[in-house]
Amino acid sequence: MLGSLLLAGSRVPFVRRAVSGVPLTRKVVDRFVAGETPQDAVEAVRRLTGAGLTVTIDHLGEETRDAGAAAGTAQAYTVLLGALRELDLGDRAEVSVKLSAVGQALGADGDKIALENARRICEAAHAAGADVTLDMEDHTTVDSTLGVLRALRGDFPRTGVALQAYLFRSEADCRDLSHEGSRVRLVKGAYAEPASVVHRDKAEVDKAYVRCLRILMAGGGYPMVATHDDRLISITELLADRFGRSRGDYEYQMLYGIRTDKQQALAGAGHTVRVYIPYGDDWYGYFMRRLAERPANVAFFLRALGGK
Ligand code: FDA
Repeated sequence: MLGSLLLAGSRVPFVRRAVSGVPLTRKVVDRFVAGETPQDAVEAVRRLTGAGLTVTIDHLGEETRDAGAAAGTAQAYTVLLGALRELDLGDRAEVSVKLSAVGQALGADGDKIALENARRICEAAHAAGADVTLDMEDHTTVDSTLGVLRALRGDFPRTGVALQAYLFRSEADCRDLSHEGSRVRLVKGAYAEPASVVHRDKAEVDKAYVRCLRILMAGGGYPMVATHDDRLISITELLADRFGRSRGDYEYQMLYGIRTDKQQALAGAGHTVRVYIPYGDDWYGYFMRRLAERPANVAFFLRALGGK
């Protein structure tokens, strides 16, 4: 209930101004966001890869309504990827891209602009030896995102995509994308969606996650199991045994600042664990989704505002 309110409020300009305008907000945001500049992101990459983790970096921003800003986001990724190239981390570092940040929301030409900008990012990533994974946003964007994915995979076959278990359609999408060479990041789903397209009950979302996970683990692709949920991690291990997958045949992914102890424990046990590192000044939408996922985060936020 509180989560739905926060997700709905996150789209209201007045709420955005109110939350962003509180000086102490920044302190709380820092728990989930690595900083504002590419240097901040690179610093987090150094720290986390030095601790035995792998990373995927997100330049924050979404629902861009301006073609210049969309091109600017692609440029920001190429600058970041230039810095990653110098670190020479190979597949230990990749980037995550929201297509709505690179033009998808720009009306009739949106898909074309997003594809052109995403292609520039893929070229820079290729030069840095890094992969690109497309984030999945609200349900109205799924067909468009999968269309752009198909087009990108023609030239950059390692391009991956996030699929959201809460969507009714995702089992079928998992089946379509469970072939050899495919990289799918399975997430529960973080947007406010109508009951006509998603499972709303938490237990139903978890069951749907397991069904999707089973399809991906049984298939020929590379599953990226993006969850902080212990039960789903245990089930992943059972499925890996059942389908004969060794540790290099799938990976875990978690968000920056969330369950860092678990990230280290899994990496210490020999798993590939990839941390999703967001950076940039357009942190609002991302931050509100993290608050919505866990009521305790709201209490933490309110305590920080109160100076405690
Ligand atoms: P769940 O929400 O049940 O959390 C399990 C446990 O993890 C909680 O009990 C708590 O301990 C901890 N936890 C989870 N969220 C927390 C938070 N915000 N703060 C503190 N603790 C928290 N979504 C989407 O719609 N599109 C996308 O492209 C992506 N991309 C993405 C990439 C990666 C790498 C991850 C890990 C997640 C995403 N997501 C996403 C977000 C995803 O849909 C989902 O909202 C979150 O991962 C939370 O779900 P869990 O699977 O962790 O389970």
